Amino acid sequence: MMPFERLLLENKAWAAEKVGEDPLFFKRLENIQQPDFLWIGCSDSRVPANEITGTQPGEIFVHRNVANLVINTDVNLLSVLDYAVNHLKVKHVIVCGHYGCGGVKAATTNHDYKYLLNMWLRNIKDVYRLHREELDAIHEPDERTNRLVELNVVEQLKNLAKTSIIQRAWKQENRPDLHGWVYGLKNGIINPLLDIKANTSLDPLYEYDDL
Ligand code: CO
Repeated sequence: MMPFERLLLENKAWAAEKVGEDPLFFKRLENIQQPDFLWIGCSDSRVPANEITGTQPGEIFVHRNVANLVINTDVNLLSVLDYAVNHLKVKHVIVCGHYGCGGVKAATTNHDYKYLLNMWLRNIKDVYRLHREELDAIHEPDERTNRLVELNVVEQLKNLAKTSIIQRAWKQENRPDLHGWVYGLKNGIINPLLDIKANTSLDPLYEYDDL
């Protein structure tokens, strides 16, 4: 059997098991999805959104990229955010990083990762620069990376709040709340870092007044 064929075989077994537990499982999800959550996580294969939160298909709308970044010119992320907020009407947006993130670690080096990755990782270097004093004071490299993982999640959460997509939903419907989490690869536990409730005031520089 080719390695990828195992996935197809497992898929059949999974589908059969679901129907065994609940004959209407797929029928119910076929025509509608009403997730309460948008998850913005790292692409890392060890951090699967549904599995680590014990949620089922239909419960979380998911976007993942290297180091869970929210970049204000990323059409992919913004499309997902727009759809989740304005069409699915999610109540919560979660940015979930993870300790030991390879993307964050790479951004702390001076290595040339070539074109696209350099461009992407630059955003994390900017987070480092914003918090340089605190990070430079941490001498143990893994500890410093993990603190940068946390600060990166906080900055990405703020980047969400800076979008007109979020600000308009806050003004018109008092949702969604934003949550910044960090997952531990060592123990499987999520560390909740920061919540930004709907309509929390921001730096006025980023507030739109004509939404
Ligand atoms: Co990662």
